[in-house]
Amino acid sequence: MFAGAGGDVLTARMDLSRVRETYETTGLDEADLAADPVTQFHRWFGEVEAAGYWEPNAMVLSTVTADGWPSARNVLLKRIDDRGFVFFTNYTSDKAIELDDAGRAALTFSWTELRRQVRVVGTARRLDDDESDLYWTTRPRGSQLGAWASDQSAVVSGRAVLEQAFAAAEEQWAGRDVERLDHWGGYRVRPDSVEFWQGRPDRLHDRMRFRRSGNGWDVERLSP
Ligand SMILES: Cc1cc2nc3c(=O)[nH]c(=O)nc-3n(C[C@H](O)[C@H](O)[C@H](O)COP(=O)(O)O)c2cc1C
Repeated sequence: MFAGAGGDVLTARMDLSRVRETYETTGLDEADLAADPVTQFHRWFGEVEAAGYWEPNAMVLSTVTADGWPSARNVLLKRIDDRGFVFFTNYTSDKAIELDDAGRAALTFSWTELRRQVRVVGTARRLDDDESDLYWTTRPRGSQLGAWASDQSAVVSGRAVLEQAFAAAEEQWAGRDVERLDHWGGYRVRPDSVEFWQGRPDRLHDRMRFRRSGNGWDVERLSP
């Protein structure tokens, strides 16, 4: 799913302060950047993962409501490739309604202990059923049943309602594979811009932004 871990950073596993200092010192230079943001993301993700970060694939997904309100929550990145950033959710949830309506999303990865942030802005589209099916089969049975039990984003009168719905799903699927719900699946955010932020001393942080340009990417340095 993700590219390999980052070389000698691996030796500093679980010692985030040492890793942070290394990154603060070396920074993020034009010459060191990969040619495209997905490769650069793989590099950083490998390093963050190797440093022992807990749930490094958590990201804030920001959407916008029909009447212009921003709306943000965490989701888990499950795949990234040249086509974009993939996560999974309930297609009747608030976020899904907002994504289907506006077709736009922002993603923010906050690896603050390493003084790193990645910001993505792009267009969001549902995955096709085959791709969602493939991921569904890798989920633990409990998570699959939980998806059946949850009308995500709807108001519930109490926890008992959820527990009863879970028990009903257990009964419904007893002794057989749990099928994917039609209204559960993935989205892919195709990035139009990706910014890599590396904290540096004296607030002279490095900000490098890739912007899609034709079939390639333009890179700009932004003021911190
Ligand atoms: C670390 C973390 C990871 C999460 N990952 C997901 C996810 O991958 N998919 C999902 O639907 N909700 C995930 N959630 C729950 C969402 O943040 C949110 O509560 C839920 O999706 C409902 O959002 P909505 O009502 O805006 O649609 C996660 C929450 C946290 C804190």
